[in-house]
Amino acid sequence: MPTRAWFPTLIYHEALLKTGLEKFNTSLADECRNLRDYDAAGRRWSAKNYPGGYTSYASLNQLHKFSSTFAGLERRLTAHVRKFAAALDLDLRGRTVTMTDFWVNIMPEHAAHSLHLHPLSFVSGTYYVVTPPGCAGLKFEDPRLSKFMAAPPKRPDARPANRPHITYPAQAGHVILFESWLRHEVAANRTQAERISVSFNYNWS
Ligand code: NI
Repeated sequence: MPTRAWFPTLIYHEALLKTGLEKFNTSLADECRNLRDYDAAGRRWSAKNYPGGYTSYASLNQLHKFSSTFAGLERRLTAHVRKFAAALDLDLRGRTVTMTDFWVNIMPEHAAHSLHLHPLSFVSGTYYVVTPPGCAGLKFEDPRLSKFMAAPPKRPDARPANRPHITYPAQAGHVILFESWLRHEVAANRTQAERISVSFNYNWS
C-alpha cells in the first residue's frame, strides 16, 4: 500500500466488568437520582446551562471523594484509563494518574449537550448507567475538521474511519474513553425515559 494512516485519534469502548453490572447499575442509578434531589445548587446551575436536564458538573463534581459507590467505580475506571494510555503509548512510568472530576448527567426527553471538550485533563470519559432503547449516543468530531479548507466532501459510502464524525451508542455498563481535547456532543434524547451517565476527567503528575 503506498498510502498509510498516521496520527490516529483513539477512542476506547469496553464493558466496565465482565459480569454483575445490572445490579450495580440499578443502585448507581438510584444514587444519581438521589443526588439530583439533594443538589439544589446543581439543579439551579443545570436550569441555566444544561436545559431540560441535570448535571452535577458545577456543584458535586468530585463524587469519588464522597461516595463509596463512586470511589469503587473510580478504581475500576482507572484500570481502563491505564489500558487506554498504553494504547496511546503515553509514558506513565513512575507517574501518577488521578481522577480529578467525577459527576452525574441525567438527560430526560429533549435534553441535549452541544459540542465541547474537557479542559485541564488528558483523558476523559463516560460510563453509562441507564440507556433507554433509542437514546442518543456520544458523537465525536474529527479534530482536523477546521483544517480541511478546500477538501471536497466525503463520499456517502466513505469508510467509517474517513468520515468527519463517529457516534458511539450509549450502552449501559460500558465505558468510553477519549483524549480530553477531542470535541464531542450528545444529541437530544428522543425517548421518554431518562438517560443517565457519569462522566470523569483524569490528570497525571
Ligand atoms: Ni463531555
